[in-house]
Amino acid sequence: MICKTQQDIDGMRKANKVVSEALKYAETLIRPGISTYELDKLIEKFIIDKGAIPSFKGYDGYPASICASVNEVVVHGIPSKSIVLKEGDIISIDIGTIVDGYNGDAARTFPVGKISSEKQKLIDVTKQCFFEGIKNLRVGARLGLLSSAIQNYAESYGYGVVRELVGHGIGHHMHEEPEVPNYGSPHKGIIVKENMCLAIEPMINMGRKEIYMKNDGWTIATCDDSPSAHYENTVIVTSNGVEILSL
Ligand code: MF3
Ligand code: CO
Repeated sequence: MICKTQQDIDGMRKANKVVSEALKYAETLIRPGISTYELDKLIEKFIIDKGAIPSFKGYDGYPASICASVNEVVVHGIPSKSIVLKEGDIISIDIGTIVDGYNGDAARTFPVGKISSEKQKLIDVTKQCFFEGIKNLRVGARLGLLSSAIQNYAESYGYGVVRELVGHGIGHHMHEEPEVPNYGSPHKGIIVKENMCLAIEPMINMGRKEIYMKNDGWTIATCDDSPSAHYENTVIVTSNGVEILSL
């Protein structure tokens, strides 16, 4: 169901608050030497201790509670004991929770120790893509306005905008209608309705836009091996503007 009731919105706030807190906790854990397996176990415990359910675990058979995507991995990196962070890496952490039947979903890309200025710029621009997008998100406007604003901003830095993966509506299910592409024409897409809840998630490559899936059936990486960043929040579009639920 595309437009939320007041009760739905309260539920969405709770689920996304846990996601937001878990991402802040994740940031404190990131350091050279920690494995993405350890991150998954610690963050999973944090989510469960808050009374929430880690929604990724078991979703289409996904084996972990977080996605941990290092450097050229775009999204859906499976946590592993053999993936150990080192100084200079960037890591995207994506977290989903369910509270009282409502879903929260958000992601951030973090530096590991000291990183290159090029990687830092990729992280900053990817985050700004989200904010450029939501400047164009309002009741009665076409969703394509947001999509094209994200694309234009990323491409103005020469970055590649991933096409195959998109943001989504969210509510009782993690993935609901509509799709929220990070590219496209400002004149296309649905007309945004009051109380729509959307997960907006630019995935931006430093190099070319093309991606491939690794043999594990999950991990998505850039074809040219260039680093990639991800920034996602769940938002609600009200008649008074956009409320970001997972900041
Ligand atoms: N945030 C991701 C998404 O919006 C999470 C899906 S990962 C999965 O699609 F493991 F749950 F599939
Ligand atoms: Co999402």
